[in-house]
Amino acid sequence: MEALIRSISSHSLNTTVNLEDILLSLVYDVVGKVAFGNSYRGKTFNGRTLKDIVEEARECYSDFDGFLQMVLDDHHDTKTSGHVNDFVDDCMSRLTTEEMKALVMNVLEGAVDTSTITMVWAMSELVKNPRVMQSCKTKFEDVLEENRK
Ligand code: HEM
Repeated sequence: MEALIRSISSHSLNTTVNLEDILLSLVYDVVGKVAFGNSYRGKTFNGRTLKDIVEEARECYSDFDGFLQMVLDDHHDTKTSGHVNDFVDDCMSRLTTEEMKALVMNVLEGAVDTSTITMVWAMSELVKNPRVMQSCKTKFEDVLEENRK
């Protein structure tokens, strides 16, 4: 409260005060004190305060939501133009928009890191083992050759 009054009174007369910003800082202080015993006022992690981090996360979620909406809109738009049915098309008729967004998010979260890490691991194992690497290479070439026929 003292910080709030100090912040407001630091402005000279006839200047505009962003009350929402000041009250938001007050609420962060109070909630921090009540919930985890410390307002963490002025404390930073990686150069950002709790307020900065929460604001960034909100912006990030809002962009993520916009991205997911774009994916769904694209699928609504392409429905008539002879595009090949995919996972999203299959689920869209049965699920609400919110459920679809949660599902697409789940697939992204479940698929990206797991697949990337597995491939990085497999490739580093191959680098350490030239004999297996050669065997994989031969197998790949056979498959490519087969597909070319
Ligand atoms: C090496 C690759 C992967 C590994 C090691 C892996 C591993 C796992 C594990 C351990 C679970 C939790 C299962 C459980 O809670 O019983 C899971 C769930 C899930 N995975 Fe994967 N995953 C991989 C790739 C993928 C890919 C490529 C996709 C999608 C294209 C995917 C989509 C999902 C989804 C949607 C779930 C949640 C299922 C549910 O909510 O019941 N995963 N995965």
